[in-house]
Amino acid sequence: MLLTRAEMTFDFAGAKLDPAKDRELLGWMFNQFLYGEVTGIQIGHWLYEAPDLEAARFLSRQAVEEFQHVDNFIRILALLGCTPAPPHPVVRWLATGQMGDSWAEHVALEMAAGEGFVLMAFYGVIDTLDHPGIVAILERAVKQEERHVDFGERRTAQVIAGKPWLRRRLLGLNLVSMWGVRRLVRFMRRRLPADHPVLTRLPAFLDHSLACAELRLRRTGLLDRPLAELSSTRRALLVAEAFAQKALVKLGRLLTLPLRLLPVVGKKRRLTDSYLADPALRVPRAPAGSADAGGDESS
Ligand SMILES: [Fe+2]
Ligand SMILES: [Fe+2]
Repeated sequence: MLLTRAEMTFDFAGAKLDPAKDRELLGWMFNQFLYGEVTGIQIGHWLYEAPDLEAARFLSRQAVEEFQHVDNFIRILALLGCTPAPPHPVVRWLATGQMGDSWAEHVALEMAAGEGFVLMAFYGVIDTLDHPGIVAILERAVKQEERHVDFGERRTAQVIAGKPWLRRRLLGLNLVSMWGVRRLVRFMRRRLPADHPVLTRLPAFLDHSLACAELRLRRTGLLDRPLAELSSTRRALLVAEAFAQKALVKLGRLLTLPLRLLPVVGKKRRLTDSYLADPALRVPRAPAGSADAGGDESS
């Protein structure tokens, strides 16, 4: 990865999350993660778009890993005595609504940036949660997430080489994702207990996460100077340009779609809409990688 674990680690100064006392908060948090893992179905789309064999092979393996993570979070919720519940709308928007329109958007926004944010949140939970069993499950998962981020970073640098227009566009979309992350944290600060020793550090953790996201933008080559040196007008222009291009792509797709398919498109229900009613969620399975999981755990 372009950032080390040490760079991404935030100092919570020994503050801890208690599995019993903080059960409600942990249940809410792990349900956001569960939704994120269910969005692993989107890999099916990107496998079809894979530009080469290495990418296709990587995505096939990633799909298996993301669905091991689904099992992990179902298991973690059961260990905490919590039940699967819907995600916050901002999480849904970040993970599904912001799904890329192209391979470049997928690797830059979903893999490098998106999974980068998730990875930092996993590190944060590992460092604060006072539950060795759950921490061990997460430690195995982060090794796989690190590889996903690494792939996203390498492929981002590759797709923008010699394409300044694409670099600008991906930067604009990244600025929108960073705004979404800020909104999510604002919600958490409003809704969650403000006097909790871990949660009082949330604003500083957000600053650190955004600083790491910026560093990743610099190291992948998407950003050539500190974000603070970009005026708000310049940032607004980058976002406007990125969205204008996205709107054009969507319009182009719509115009080429046979009219008879239009009613079907709006009704499609995917696993990300139906997973909470899925019978598999009612039976907690052993975490991936444990002796009784029966799956292939790679790290
Ligand atoms: Fe995952
Ligand atoms: Fe992942």
